[in-house]
Amino acid sequence: MTASESEEPALRRAVCPGSFDPITNGHLDIIARASKLYDVVHVAVMINQSKQGLFTVDERIDLIRRATAEYGNVQVESFHGLLVDFCKQRDIPAIVKGLRAVSDFDYELQMAQMNNGLSGVETLFVPTNPTYSFLSSSLVKEVAAWGGDVSHLVPPFVLDALTERLRKKS
Ligand code: PNS
Repeated sequence: MTASESEEPALRRAVCPGSFDPITNGHLDIIARASKLYDVVHVAVMINQSKQGLFTVDERIDLIRRATAEYGNVQVESFHGLLVDFCKQRDIPAIVKGLRAVSDFDYELQMAQMNNGLSGVETLFVPTNPTYSFLSSSLVKEVAAWGGDVSHLVPPFVLDALTERLRKKS
């Protein structure tokens, strides 16, 4: 047997990037579906210092880890820098993104083309489950801040963390 014959095939990796402030059931749906398509799914909490989050990056990571604990092939970490550099450093050839509606498309297309031009990384778009087509972390925070019910839109421990954080803030 030659050295190349004995080598294990490379793991198929993809990244689901985002701010995840906080993770919602819409994000989880995309991560769960990506975890069926790839050997390893990296969830990257991208750090944007110009954007003040409701949760710290470590808190977001903790919530995502709890939400994805049932998937054995999901790894969660933060990254400060370009998404293409995150991918390069980990040998990740594919970015998986959810597309909620046509309104997402323009910006997502720009980012996909920019990322591909920078490093050759591909972006795969997964149509969001229609149940979550209106869902975003920003809307969840806004509705929750005004006392609206978001219990069907985030995991229970995210709801608890959100309620507690908003109570402390008010
Ligand atoms: O959840 P969000 O805020 O919509 O996610 C946007 C995110 C974090 C995926 C995007 O802003 C990103 O990739 N940021 C990392 C910095 C970067 O690579 N910018 C160039 C994008 S072409």
